[in-house]
Amino acid sequence: MLISPSLLSVERKKIALIVDELINLKVKYIHIDVMDKGFIGHTAIKISDFKKISGKKIKYGIHLMVNNPRKYAKKFIALGAKTIIFHYESFSNNMSIAKFISDLHVLNVKVGIAFKPNTKIEDAFFFIKMVDIVLIMTVEPGKGGQTFNKKMLKKIKICSEYIKKNNLKTSIEVDGGINNKTCIECWKNGVNILVIGSYLFNGASIKKQIDSISNIYREFKNFKI
Ligand code: DX5
Ligand code: ZN
Repeated sequence: MLISPSLLSVERKKIALIVDELINLKVKYIHIDVMDKGFIGHTAIKISDFKKISGKKIKYGIHLMVNNPRKYAKKFIALGAKTIIFHYESFSNNMSIAKFISDLHVLNVKVGIAFKPNTKIEDAFFFIKMVDIVLIMTVEPGKGGQTFNKKMLKKIKICSEYIKKNNLKTSIEVDGGINNKTCIECWKNGVNILVIGSYLFNGASIKKQIDSISNIYREFKNFKI
């Protein structure tokens, strides 16, 4: 189980300090939200922000909520990003999705495919075999602090059953409204990676919040919850 802190709600001038703190707390994978005005209506973490942290010893998952993932992927990979997560909805045809995934793999980059809440995952089963991560959005992409959409649990389950049935190693990542309650439902349905924004950064301390999720996971694994 991995916790992937989302830096979306972190003040940009503090971004490098927060990344250092997360590294000290043994976080292994940080979530970077990239948006454009076409796909979302506003922007989020920019290349100039990422430049401040790209050299640090930690893995980043670049969540591209943009109309042209190829253009953005290129920029982030040039700065050392090794995991690119693009939205299924950014493309109009399956051939270009398949080509994009294989182009990223040739560059030795891990690939994630993300789905908005209203997108049916059954339409894209074919791609689950091709990618390293499936990112299930549990809120509408765009901003932090929204409420987890419980209807997404079924989608997570369908995805996890498909992965098991086909003996795949694909990870399931969830993004949106994850806290000390919703995480349990996610694990029960097969999630491996939790993207967490507000719950981590709006609590008493980042350490306390990470510890609380880790303790709940321990109880979950020991069948106590
Ligand atoms: C929303 C972003 C998320 C966001 C999650 O579009 O993709 O990564 O930061 O924030 P919380 O955990 O507050 O829902
Ligand atoms: Zn995200």
